[in-house]
Amino acid sequence: MRSQTLPQERIRAKRDGEALSPEAIRELVAGIADGSLSDAQVGALAMAVYLNGMDAAETVALTEAVRDSGEVLAWHGSGLDPGLPGPVLDKHSTGGVGDLVSLVLGPWIAACGGFVPMVSGRGLGHTGGTLDKLEAIPGYDIAPSRERFRTLVRESGVAIVGQTAELAPADRRLYAIRDVTATVESLPLIVSSILGKKLACGLDALVMDVKTGSGAFMPTHEASFELATTIADVASRAGTPTTALLTDMSQPLAPCAGNAVEVREAIALLTGEKRGGRLLEVTRELAAELLLAGKLADRRDAALSLLDERLASGAAAERFARMVAGLGGPADLLERYDHYLPQAPVVRPVYAARAGRVTRMHTRALGLAVVELGGGRRAPHDAIDPAVGLTGIAALGEAVGGERPLAWVYAASEDDAERAASQLRAAIEVNDVAAGDVTLPTLIQDVIRREAP
Ligand code: URA
Repeated sequence: MRSQTLPQERIRAKRDGEALSPEAIRELVAGIADGSLSDAQVGALAMAVYLNGMDAAETVALTEAVRDSGEVLAWHGSGLDPGLPGPVLDKHSTGGVGDLVSLVLGPWIAACGGFVPMVSGRGLGHTGGTLDKLEAIPGYDIAPSRERFRTLVRESGVAIVGQTAELAPADRRLYAIRDVTATVESLPLIVSSILGKKLACGLDALVMDVKTGSGAFMPTHEASFELATTIADVASRAGTPTTALLTDMSQPLAPCAGNAVEVREAIALLTGEKRGGRLLEVTRELAAELLLAGKLADRRDAALSLLDERLASGAAAERFARMVAGLGGPADLLERYDHYLPQAPVVRPVYAARAGRVTRMHTRALGLAVVELGGGRRAPHDAIDPAVGLTGIAALGEAVGGERPLAWVYAASEDDAERAASQLRAAIEVNDVAAGDVTLPTLIQDVIRREAP
């Protein structure tokens, strides 16, 4: 039963800097989900939180209330349902450029005995979205029925799909109102929004990839570190053991960015056609943390050996193929990706204005170049061109000039390619320096582990 306290009295309390009780937060969030709070009240509440913040207990209560505002998935059985025979694990990233970790990590964890019901999002701003990438695969259905989703998780160990209307509905409304009331950049609102959706998937453990650097959502190392720590603390206090890794996004994580080109990269890594690289290194570390948290390995070296074995044996690739086929994509995608993945009509190299080494990347600008090619959206309902993007993007410290371009552009037209080429030259700084003069960023900068209390 709802208390008699008016929502405006609670908004007033937050406005005046008071901490809200868990009960007050639960009722406000229920009012957001069922529409009994008006848009004006939700906006005012968001602004009060933005200006005065929330303490740890409030942020945990807000996260739990968002999680519980709709369906919370349960995987471990009740009654006649035997439940899944392994831990339910997931990963979330704050987003970046060339960040196709989910496409590799989900099947890899499944091949190691975990179950990954991954609910992913679309591209946001300059960052790519896992759903947009998967939709480059002809036939792939990001919105299967609940039964199909559950069956696929059980049988393939992994299913990557879109958010349903039943999952964390309070966040959908709150986020839309934050977006138009200048209240997106608030730590408790960001944390509860990200975690409310993820924890509604019924996870046994979560790993968060929080990016830092010129392509990251948070502008500074300090802000990214605070986000990583808060996420790990709040998720664990809400009952889901969570490890947050702070990883570098001062250059694209993979040497490509776009939708079909990133699916192509994921297939190359899963099948062993391509080995090593920053993307695989970050994915392997995130996956090892999940195996430890899910008790599928008892030590880091055991987790890493299990992962290496399941990648080399083709088991991870096989899980990816099963997921794609189970969601309506081609059964022989791994063998005939060039036949199925869309190809851009214009493909051309872009050379630096002068030879030298890459000394700095404006990674956000690279992501925006992909958006402008048509690989992302300017407005929420824009269609995406899955074929466009960048490949062979030179890395920090790499020598370019002569035979080595900055990248290859995949475009829908010569004009688009020309515009992207200028953007690339502006986004990738090249200077005449020796290899040792370029300081390479540390890829994994922090690991923050939190057990559930
Ligand atoms: N992603 C989300 O899901 N919510 C936020 O508030 C920010 C990023």
